[in-house]
Amino acid sequence: MANQVDEDDVDADYLFPIIHQETAHILEEAAQEEQELQHYLPSIDSTVVIRQLPSQGLSFKIWAAANTLVALLEQYHQHPNNSPLSSVFNCHNNPFSILELGSGTGLVGIAAAAILRAKVTITDLPNVLPNLSFNAMANSATLVLNGGNVDVSSLRWGEVDDMESIGKDFNMILGSDVVYHDNLYEPLLKTLQFFLGGKSNTVFVMAHLRRWKKESAFFKKARKLFQIQVLHSDSPLPGARVGVVVYSFSRKGANAEVVTNGTISSV
Ligand SMILES: C[S@@+](CC[C@H](N)C(=O)[O-])C[C@H]1O[C@@H](n2cnc3c(N)ncnc32)[C@H](O)[C@@H]1O
Repeated sequence: MANQVDEDDVDADYLFPIIHQETAHILEEAAQEEQELQHYLPSIDSTVVIRQLPSQGLSFKIWAAANTLVALLEQYHQHPNNSPLSSVFNCHNNPFSILELGSGTGLVGIAAAAILRAKVTITDLPNVLPNLSFNAMANSATLVLNGGNVDVSSLRWGEVDDMESIGKDFNMILGSDVVYHDNLYEPLLKTLQFFLGGKSNTVFVMAHLRRWKKESAFFKKARKLFQIQVLHSDSPLPGARVGVVVYSFSRKGANAEVVTNGTISSV
């Protein structure tokens, strides 16, 4: 079946070079205190400005999966009926109400709000919020110009109080590079169960770059809870066998199938 991915097929030997390259890159970046990235969005002829603070940890830099998700949002905006996101996004009426999990710098959520003219709540751990709020504020004029809106909230995965105070009023959940530490698999799945348990057609769209073989455990558990489909796969990164893959997660039975580039794909 086209686009079918068996998570167990990915050989860990081919993943380690990515780790080494990324580790070297992170160490290089850590030496630099603050970076301002200008991310141009051709589809709306606007630029999103993102402050990265690499020396403060992994939540303060943009990860590869974030760039893939932004590129797909742009593609969707330009070709709403012929993009990898069409099948899941076209089930909803505008305006989209979006929740982003583990936003980090906020690039994905801020770009989504501007591109889709959406109301987006970007979230992360409490210590990440000052930089997230800084980036939301830095783009407020661009957001107003494009008809988007961004709110910033603390959302610790698995924390019922956090989830309940945010509520379930979203038709789309986004996440990029949120599967990495194995102790976060359960809290993330619990969070997804909460938010995908609201509106029946709420979908989680996740961009993921696989680094560790142990991530199979996350997908095995997730497949028991949700219907998971592959929407898009990037070409492998240089020197690696894997690239960023974009999945949709929906409540079991909510969507019968997803059509990607004319073929039905599933995980
Ligand atoms: C690898 S970073 C990805 C950041 C961003 N989504 C991107 O792609 O650039 C993972 C993000 O998940 C957040 N995160 C980790 N554990 C979390 C938790 N328990 N609750 C909420 N967010 C968490 C981190 O703070 C970090 O921002």
